[in-house]
Amino acid sequence: MSTTNQPVGKHLRTGVLQAGERVQLTDYKGRKSTITLAEGGQWHTHQGVLEHDAILGGPEGVVVENEAGYRYQVLRPLLNDFVLSMPRGATVVYPKDSAQIVQLADIFPGAHVVEAGVGSGALSISLLRAVGDQGSVHSYELREEFAQIAKGNVEAFFGQEHPGWDVRIGDAATAPVEQEEPGSVDRVVLDMLAPWDCLPAVRTILAPGGVWVSYVASVTQLSRLAEEIRASGGFTEPQAEEIMQRTWHLDGLAVRPDHRMVAHTGFLLSTRRLADDQLPLELKKREKVSEPSPEDKAAWAGTNEQTQWDQESLKTRVVSKKKARKAVGRAEQIAAKAKEVPVEDD
Ligand SMILES: C[S@@+](CC[C@H](N)C(=O)[O-])C[C@H]1O[C@@H](n2cnc3c(N)ncnc32)[C@H](O)[C@@H]1O
Repeated sequence: MSTTNQPVGKHLRTGVLQAGERVQLTDYKGRKSTITLAEGGQWHTHQGVLEHDAILGGPEGVVVENEAGYRYQVLRPLLNDFVLSMPRGATVVYPKDSAQIVQLADIFPGAHVVEAGVGSGALSISLLRAVGDQGSVHSYELREEFAQIAKGNVEAFFGQEHPGWDVRIGDAATAPVEQEEPGSVDRVVLDMLAPWDCLPAVRTILAPGGVWVSYVASVTQLSRLAEEIRASGGFTEPQAEEIMQRTWHLDGLAVRPDHRMVAHTGFLLSTRRLADDQLPLELKKREKVSEPSPEDKAAWAGTNEQTQWDQESLKTRVVSKKKARKAVGRAEQIAAKAKEVPVEDD
């Protein structure tokens, strides 16, 4: 536990390695294992036994050997490593998205941020790092057990409770209005199923100019939230984006993108609070954009049983009967050829 007036968590990110710290050990195959250091502790694997004392009191970035001469590179896990290996209840926001959320929402040291839901606390850690010890993050969560997981993860990361963090059990659609001063919140960050339910609350608590960023997993959520923000007034034109990250293989002349990537995590929607009684600036290009029909709106709200989620409503390409027949013909032709290939006994 930090006893000095240095920033919270700094003692776990720099300096010599101490008992109680987590370290990441990487072997020559690139396999990573994370252990908690203890005086006199041992790490047993089928490669042999590694004495913790060979690491304790020394710097990170060293290579140590176990009793059988098997070597490991020793490093503290970074925030990205920590988040991807920490205990999870709900799905975590991936580091690529947390990084962009901090940037997009302009989270600054000393800011007062409202977050919901807490889930496993991954995003909370990034928000707390960005607001620092002088800032505050009030995180609203419906489920007590998720809040408990998140508290464990946040304390494990900072090595103590963060002075700026307050987890509040409650519905983000209603609780913040009861617990935050109107117009007192600098930034709102939501990662929950139905962020549009929070629209009246966000309008009440967010300061003029304040940024609201929502992370949603599907385009239907993105679309509904954007339309409801537009319809509500009080906010700037919402902006949507997604972050794609492609890692690369670097090996001599074989320099190319990796074969696998996380292809989809979520979408980010951002908007800013206007001052009271101000109307959003009408953007000219919006005149050309089709307004959602009452049927579309009813479909998003789930109130119209009759609404069809068909291609026409979703404005996706409609395949004509003629084109479909042609495709059937081609498929049958290819299948017929394939059936002509003799099957030989083994
Ligand atoms: C995907 S998780 C959040 C993950 C979190 N951002 C992280 O990085 O670990 C969504 C969370 O929102 C919570 N939630 C859903 N609706 C909510 C509401 N109306 N008020 C508060 N929390 C809510 C869920 O219980 C769940 O824990």
